[in-house]
Amino acid sequence: MTQRLTIRRPDDWHLHLRDGAMLAAVLPETARHFARAIIMPNLVPPVITGDDARAYRDRIMAALPEGLEFTPLMTLYLTESTDPADVAAAFADGIIHAVKLYPAGATTNSASGVRDLSRVRPVLEKMAEIGLPLCIHGEVTTPDVDIFDREKVFLDTVLDPLRRDLPDLKVTLEHVTTSEGIDYVREASGDIAGTITTHHLMINRNHMLVGGIRPHYYCLPVAKRSTHQQALRVAATSGNPRFFLGTDSAPHTDPNKESACGCAGVFSATNTMACLAHVFEEEAALDRLEGFASLFGPARYGLPVNDTTITLEKTDMPVVYPARIDTGEGPVTLFDPGHSLYWRVTA
Ligand code: NCD
Ligand code: ZN
Repeated sequence: MTQRLTIRRPDDWHLHLRDGAMLAAVLPETARHFARAIIMPNLVPPVITGDDARAYRDRIMAALPEGLEFTPLMTLYLTESTDPADVAAAFADGIIHAVKLYPAGATTNSASGVRDLSRVRPVLEKMAEIGLPLCIHGEVTTPDVDIFDREKVFLDTVLDPLRRDLPDLKVTLEHVTTSEGIDYVREASGDIAGTITTHHLMINRNHMLVGGIRPHYYCLPVAKRSTHQQALRVAATSGNPRFFLGTDSAPHTDPNKESACGCAGVFSATNTMACLAHVFEEEAALDRLEGFASLFGPARYGLPVNDTTITLEKTDMPVVYPARIDTGEGPVTLFDPGHSLYWRVTA
């Protein structure tokens, strides 16, 4: 029996496209299903100024294969020397849609991130004034905090004080991985939302560590215990518009992942919609997939919903997705949830 689900075309509110040959290889994987994506600025060197964002946007559009339509929504990488006027001008010109806060050292290519929040206060004040959202990688990086506690500690010691200090700042807590993060986003007053990745809905730390270490499940924030995974699944399928999709699809080549010191990042662009349909079906919430993937994000960013649709189809036979995609930089393994998928995007 074939089951079909047609929804507004989705958008990805947290995506790593990289640059050069990697960009050329991964961009079509997203653009095939998604109309728009918030593009992460953690290149080397990072996308810091409005001019950087404009140039990166042009490289993305140049890499887009003919026949695919896609709009990259650019972001700036916040540094302690970011100029508030440059940020405001890039927003006014429609070049950028958010600014990204990486605590220095929190994740891949975050060395130029923020060490002292007081040094970026003028930028944050300007953002609060003009309504430009701040996307936050919500983890502390202090060495004495256990890696599994980094998000929880960030909520109390950084996020909440920051939002009390600047109550008008629009904040997106990205890739939420803990029940504490979910509770914070759900209950906090003011303008806050949280993105949830596909892989954090499907795996917990046992999947990564039991029976052998699976480097392709290693990402940041690192997957937590299953009770947290459950909280994420409840939030994503709840229909609460504060929670929407940000895949955090983050390609690294296999040699860089399967290494004594492997990179953090899960590449899920190719099968993300199939995975999400699987999760939402398991949670008896297929009717809420459209809100999570296609409606709540645009509302949050003040953009219209897409006027085109995609159709997902479920068949009795498992759908075979490629184990990896080839890129000019080497193979990139696709996220494998560890069980069969029966959904595919057909149109
Ligand atoms: C991301 C990357 O590879 O750029 N990695 C990841 O594990 N998510 C960076 C990030 O979003 O933290
Ligand atoms: Zn990311």
